Amino acid sequence: MLQPADLPSAPGPIGVFDSGYGGLTVWRWMRDLMPDYDYVYLGDNARAPYGNRSFELVYEFTLQAVRRLFQMGCHLVILACNTASAKALRTIQQHDLPQMDASRRVLGVVRPTAECVGYITRSRHVGIVATTGTIRSRTYELEIAKLFPDIVVTGEACPLWAPLVENGEAQSDGADYFVRRHIESLLNRDPQIDCIILGCTHYPLLLDKIRRYTPSDIRLLPQGEYVARSLECYLSRHPEMLQQVSRNATRHFYTTERPEFFNENAAMFLGEPVSAEHVVLK
Ligand code: DGL
Repeated sequence: MLQPADLPSAPGPIGVFDSGYGGLTVWRWMRDLMPDYDYVYLGDNARAPYGNRSFELVYEFTLQAVRRLFQMGCHLVILACNTASAKALRTIQQHDLPQMDASRRVLGVVRPTAECVGYITRSRHVGIVATTGTIRSRTYELEIAKLFPDIVVTGEACPLWAPLVENGEAQSDGADYFVRRHIESLLNRDPQIDCIILGCTHYPLLLDKIRRYTPSDIRLLPQGEYVARSLECYLSRHPEMLQQVSRNATRHFYTTERPEFFNENAAMFLGEPVSAEHVVLK
């Protein structure tokens, strides 16, 4: 078992984890808002998508990634993945973190998104599109109900959206079919919805298509900006963690797939060259 003594104690980068490329849509906001910090991005592309996987597997894979990021020197890890945030975060925070190193932190993306939605919706009817795992976990409903009990939340599982993105098909005609089908289904179930949370970090890569099939008076909420601003706020409230974040503006990318695949796709998403290294999670 990993012990605090096994982990580097010097200040280190902020770790950002996703099942694949989706977390890059969150990370780019972090980088733009807080460019001085060091970052390590880890995509478990070889085992993505996580969306249809069991609780046990998502938890096991996410824990492996968190451990590895701690070993790389991170004191703070952001699960830039709703599926991992919904299915693994709480157990890692409550069960694993105290054993690994109680001074390190793992944060997710659901809470910062839930915090914003109450200030945006006017009709108090909110839709969520997300992976099957996130929708079945009901995490968004629970988090939103804690903060804004008057809001009616309707979730729509979109099991093929993340695989379309992960396989480089986000711009294809096939993607139109699946995007339209789920947006129509969501709005048929609750026609009063006035904002839709994109509850999967892969979905900003489908934003043009989602916009095309969503009436223009309905607001779409990708998470990157909210999560990045919430992290900035968290660091300002936690000087002890801020001291543990190194600031040399370095960025390192790791993938469990072949780095060439990652480099090609990530460069497309980020609009800049990326040079990833291979990592094995176990
Ligand atoms: N990007 C992830 C999320 O936010 C996971 C997508 C997947 O691996 O299915 O849920």
